[in-house]
Amino acid sequence: MRILTFSLFFASLALSIFSASTPKPKGEWNFVRNGTTGITASQAIVVSPTLILMFDRVLGDPLQIDGHQAWVELWNLETNTGSAVNAITDTFCASGSFLSNGTMVSVGGTAVEFPPNVTIAPDGDGRQGIRIFEPCADPTGRSCTLFEDPSTLHLAANRWYPSSLRIFDGSLMILGGTHVIVPFYNTDPENTFEFFPPKDNGQTRPSPFLEQSMPSNLFPRGFALPDGKVFVVANNVSMIYDVEAQTETMLPPLPNGVHVTNPKDGTATLLPLSPPEYIPEMLVCGGSNTSDSIQPLDLSSQNPASDQCTRMTLTPEGIEKGWIVEKMPVGRMMPEMILLPNGQVLIINGGKSGYAAYGAVADTNTTDGSNCDHPAFTPVLYTPDDALGSRFSSEGLPTTDIARLYHSGVTLTPSGNIFLAGSNPHGGVVTNGSEIFNTDFRVQFLNPPYMSVQRPTLKGIPEKVAFNDKVTFEIDIPKGLDTGDIKVALMDLGFSSHAFHSSSRLVFMEAELSKDEKSLTVTTPPNNRVYPPGPAFIFVTVDDVTSEGAAIMVGNGASPPVEDQGISLPA
Ligand SMILES: *[C@@H]1O[C@H](CO)[C@@H](O)[C@H](O)[C@H]1NC(C)=O
Ligand SMILES: *[C@@H]1O[C@H](CO)[C@@H](O)[C@H](O)[C@H]1NC(C)=O
Ligand SMILES: *[C@@H]1O[C@H](CO)[C@@H](O)[C@H](O)[C@H]1NC(C)=O
Ligand SMILES: *[C@@H]1O[C@H](CO)[C@@H](O)[C@H](O)[C@H]1NC(C)=O
Ligand SMILES: *[C@@H]1O[C@H](CO)[C@@H](O)[C@H](O)[C@H]1NC(C)=O
Ligand SMILES: *[C@@H]1O[C@H](CO)[C@@H](O)[C@H](O)[C@H]1NC(C)=O
Ligand SMILES: *[C@@H]1O[C@H](CO)[C@@H](O)[C@H](O)[C@H]1NC(C)=O
Repeated sequence: MRILTFSLFFASLALSIFSASTPKPKGEWNFVRNGTTGITASQAIVVSPTLILMFDRVLGDPLQIDGHQAWVELWNLETNTGSAVNAITDTFCASGSFLSNGTMVSVGGTAVEFPPNVTIAPDGDGRQGIRIFEPCADPTGRSCTLFEDPSTLHLAANRWYPSSLRIFDGSLMILGGTHVIVPFYNTDPENTFEFFPPKDNGQTRPSPFLEQSMPSNLFPRGFALPDGKVFVVANNVSMIYDVEAQTETMLPPLPNGVHVTNPKDGTATLLPLSPPEYIPEMLVCGGSNTSDSIQPLDLSSQNPASDQCTRMTLTPEGIEKGWIVEKMPVGRMMPEMILLPNGQVLIINGGKSGYAAYGAVADTNTTDGSNCDHPAFTPVLYTPDDALGSRFSSEGLPTTDIARLYHSGVTLTPSGNIFLAGSNPHGGVVTNGSEIFNTDFRVQFLNPPYMSVQRPTLKGIPEKVAFNDKVTFEIDIPKGLDTGDIKVALMDLGFSSHAFHSSSRLVFMEAELSKDEKSLTVTTPPNNRVYPPGPAFIFVTVDDVTSEGAAIMVGNGASPPVEDQGISLPA
């Protein structure tokens, strides 16, 4: 994953002799508590360099707006305080992503909820919800609003627990879901795809694959591949969907009977893509190996979660080899995987036993409602390029005492640390301290070592870049860092919902440091299939010390669907 030119390589040899006398500053990983949300952050997305937009349900969260409960909140990363945002429909268990024009769209949700006191529930039916958050330039977010017009702007189908991703033409593909609130398995499925803006005259596309993935197939995990096709894993099966030809090609099923989507949430990520070939590799971790033929009342919060990760290279040879099995240090239900700018994957949150959702399994009452138990308090790093068998490590990683179970939100921030909030394995707000797993409003950050040392700084990043282009910007590299080891990551930080980060992506860019080491010239991704056009952050990591992320628009910034841009990859 080292991306350096030959000249850089020789420069680094010379420099490492010089820098031997100036040891690289060492930071440490640490958890820091800061601030309290007013809603449960069951969904979270970074919408600007300073703001995170969070969504929840309408069952008594304390944050108020217009004399009633708010269920959408903007978190200001500069002040670590939140402010309420008005929404019309119920966003409970929606999904979302950015479009190619920088607009964030939230899709799906739940029907009107009836808390004990109906006066706090002015929510509209959110199952066909489409909520538009236009690019927000105000660092405080005060002037930024969520736009909804349910009578004219809505999905084709009712979708609770759908997922979504931005595809090569900059639109959103929306996958699956269920029509009504189901307590555990998907028993009333919407096994189709649709798009926003709509394709097919607004008709849905039936998916035999989603049919086959019943009944643990909520929040299917979908990823845009560098050729424009879409990888989907749902329950224990996976496939590649060709959006243009409308074909589904089955891939090998997950080994050892492991299920990885809701209510048996594992998680999945597309590993970082690197030039020149951008070969896609999928990593799928956690979940449960208990059979779907077992009804929830015969399951227990104490059933061990799966410690299995499986990885597959999506080339004909890689698919032939199938899923390669690896083991995490501990099993995890509802793990989250965060791509880090240096190419490592952080695995965090979830519990070591049980299931997602609440109030469904036999002994849910001994855990005060949670179907999941034994929170996994120590994160793990996965290094994709290390040898099989030695990729996981918790060395140097801190342990927290805050359980992040069902309905947690977590994301990498533009500063480069990890925002953690939420957890609420209950049907309402429980904060009286008598419960094992309260509704959690405490915000926490996990700081990587680079947060506490002098970091490279970037200046003069353009607002917008084209595909297959060269861009030069200024960089200030602290003394003591090996300038022969530079990685430049173009990232979509993803939309966090239910142990999945929709559209999350890292594409490494070829980079060349100027002779005076004051500017960096990077080559943008070859085309809109390698990086679906839309907003991104650029992070530069020098000798494992990462800069803050700089916001950038990738592609022409037009509204979807956009034309193909850039050059094709060699076949
Ligand atoms: C919390 O965040 C605020 C705003 O960034 C900052 O001023 C304050 O020092 C932070 N507190 C802690 C304990 O880190
Ligand atoms: C219902 O909510 C209203 C407005 O918040 C409050 O004034 C009233 O006391 C509540 N009633 C009950 C029974 O909780
Ligand atoms: C996947 O799960 C389904 C539903 O429980 C089951 O019928 C099927 O046999 C499983 N398939 C594989 C390949 O494990
Ligand atoms: C199921 O997973 C648990 C936890 O990882 C493991 O102990 C058990 O051996 C697995 N069972 C089968 C049949 O693979
Ligand atoms: C949990 O306890 C509540 C209240 O006693 C009861 O209504 C519910 O059925 C119990 N749930 C399970 C899964 O046993
Ligand atoms: C805590 O809150 C729950 C849910 O509102 C309630 O059932 C329980 O009685 C409360 N316990 C105490 C000690 O107040
Ligand atoms: C982006 O495109 C969407 C879908 O057409 C539209 O609703 C939105 O207003 C557009 N935003 C901008 C900034 O043009």
